[in-house]
Amino acid sequence: MSAPSTEVNILSPEAVRDPYTYFAPIRRDRPVLWDPRYKSWLLTSHEMVTRGLKDERFSSDRIAPFIQHKLSGPDVDPLVRQVFDVLSDWMVFQDEPGHRRLRSLVSKAFTPRSITLMEDRIRQLSNELIGEIDVSREFDLIEAFSYPLPAMVMADMLGVPLADRDRFKHWSEGIGAVVSGELDDPDRYRRSASAMNELVSFFADLLRHYRANPADNLITALIRAREADDGLTEAEVIATCTLLLFAGHETTANLIASSMLALIRHPEQLDAFREGRVPAKTAVEEFLRFDGPGKAVVRVLADDADYGGEQLAKGQRVFLVLASANRDPAVFDDPDRLRLDRDAKQHMAFGGGAHFCLGASLARLEAATALPILARALPGVRLADRELRWQPVFLTRGLQDLWLHAGGG
Ligand code: HEM
Repeated sequence: MSAPSTEVNILSPEAVRDPYTYFAPIRRDRPVLWDPRYKSWLLTSHEMVTRGLKDERFSSDRIAPFIQHKLSGPDVDPLVRQVFDVLSDWMVFQDEPGHRRLRSLVSKAFTPRSITLMEDRIRQLSNELIGEIDVSREFDLIEAFSYPLPAMVMADMLGVPLADRDRFKHWSEGIGAVVSGELDDPDRYRRSASAMNELVSFFADLLRHYRANPADNLITALIRAREADDGLTEAEVIATCTLLLFAGHETTANLIASSMLALIRHPEQLDAFREGRVPAKTAVEEFLRFDGPGKAVVRVLADDADYGGEQLAKGQRVFLVLASANRDPAVFDDPDRLRLDRDAKQHMAFGGGAHFCLGASLARLEAATALPILARALPGVRLADRELRWQPVFLTRGLQDLWLHAGGG
């Protein structure tokens, strides 16, 4: 039986630890449910989430109303304002036609070719990072490997000089603190706004540099991206750099860590994966379905809508719970079982509709390249005797750390 809606707590310890068990009865009994605690609708079935992602009444623009309501007064910290000016240029927070324009211009720079070219570099970086791990004692895979790898890949693609890499990592963590979670807490923004502002001026300098000295990298390509006489403004190029860094960093880091966790908990599948009996690309789709990094995406209703017999009203917030859709037995056979060789293509880990993840192929490439290298480099890997701590947030799913023993030969 489903919990009465008043008792739903999507941030309770049990929901954070295991959202799959938590949402199963809700999805079965009330796939469209009002959550009074967070004043939002929860869509949890694969059918409802798919429908919502394609519905133009579900607006992605959460920034403009926030600026209008909460940041228009005279006493608003200009640092916080500036952060929201940057965020309002992120395509993920825009509706059509602005979203289409930005996405199509950015796609001219962030091409399949530019992504494929990264494969050797991902392999090299993975081997280097593993080489630096002291395998004689327990280590945190997130700190040593899964967190730095995607930041270094993105820094490489953008054209961030080697000397600036450490600062870059620090800022990328700063943006995470600004954007993750809910847009309800101006104080949190004030606390982390300085990291975002430093990053913005860092990218502004890089932009000036590559305008004068074009090179084979993403920043130069973003400067050049044009359609007819329309190109990205300087503010849009900078905002897009911060978006790519944010969107591509923690998500991919979380995928690498949760995939290793899933493998270690299923030793026979770890063996099959390590020996190449399951193609890495197939396995990555199952990792994304089974315990992917995106728990939910947010929309705001631009109009009234009737979903599953419920009346959703204009202005209300909706959480489309990807994690629950990915375990829907109506679509996936035996959904709570990890089966690396299953056809998981219908998973929703990258969202869907117009905002389908722009970096999906980069994320797939990073995971499919790095995970086999990790699995082979750590033949006797096992979990250290520590509690698993998941980040207490609703939109994303990630471990705070993942302590491992490399184990013997
Ligand atoms: C496993 C890793 C990743 C996951 C699970 C993931 C997930 C998602 C999801 C669910 C969305 C849709 C958001 C929405 O509809 O509101 C999204 C959008 C986006 N992602 Fe990813 N992402 C990942 C990696 C990446 C990478 C590596 C990049 C680029 C470097 C990237 C860039 C983007 C961008 C630019 C958007 C916005 C697209 C738009 O609004 O049209 N992502 N991602």
